[in-house]
Amino acid sequence: MTARIAPSILSADFARLGEEVRSLDAGGADWIHVDVMDGRFVPNLTIGAPVVAALRPVTRRPLDCHLMIVEPERYTADFAKAGADGITVHAEACPHLHRNLQDIRAQPHRGASERGRILAGVSLNPHTPIDVVMHVLELCDVVLLMTVNPGFGGQSFIREVCPKIAALRAEIDARGLSTIIQVDGGVSPATIGDAARAGADCFVAGSAVFRSPEFGSDYGAAIAQLRQLAIVAASGG
Ligand code: DX5
Ligand code: ZN
Repeated sequence: MTARIAPSILSADFARLGEEVRSLDAGGADWIHVDVMDGRFVPNLTIGAPVVAALRPVTRRPLDCHLMIVEPERYTADFAKAGADGITVHAEACPHLHRNLQDIRAQPHRGASERGRILAGVSLNPHTPIDVVMHVLELCDVVLLMTVNPGFGGQSFIREVCPKIAALRAEIDARGLSTIIQVDGGVSPATIGDAARAGADCFVAGSAVFRSPEFGSDYGAAIAQLRQLAIVAASGG
């Protein structure tokens, strides 16, 4: 089983963002997760495409951009140009989700992602049923199941999402797809096993990497522990 760990820079020290991303890279982060918030889709404001462009020369790791914004189609090209390797939009913000996914896939890309193009992702809030992606699943490289209500780091993992992860895993496997199931929110050493057991294979972690009580500023150790716990749980441990 692959267990990708995608540390969220939302919990990083923004005054030293480049250095923080270098530490994640050196610490073995699989993807760098970038939380983009607009103060409308979610009640918080963060960063946009210029920050992705500024980080692009800092790391070769995939920059995984999670757009928690309304009308994300207005910014797809900006994020692609800035060097994003993955663009994930919220189904709740996309009345034309099929078109949005096609648009993401059609963007020119630096070619460094594992599939040679920008990965197209759809995110679902905790209450949104997986039915909304059933007819676009073949267009999704990633389905991101939120395990908190989006907007802030440091919230508690919502365990009720686990049956949703399991149902999506069953559907992906039944169709023989390689869609990545990403979980985001409250992922920690105490919760990652549940998500992995249910069938997630990519794990966003903010606080658990940047504020690990056990490992402090050793991000690599926190990342390695999370990955190990996910692999053990997924293999029935
Ligand atoms: C929440 C963001 C998450 C957040 C995760 O809206 O999408 O990526 O940063 O933070 P933790 O891991 O602290 O819950
Ligand atoms: Zn996120």
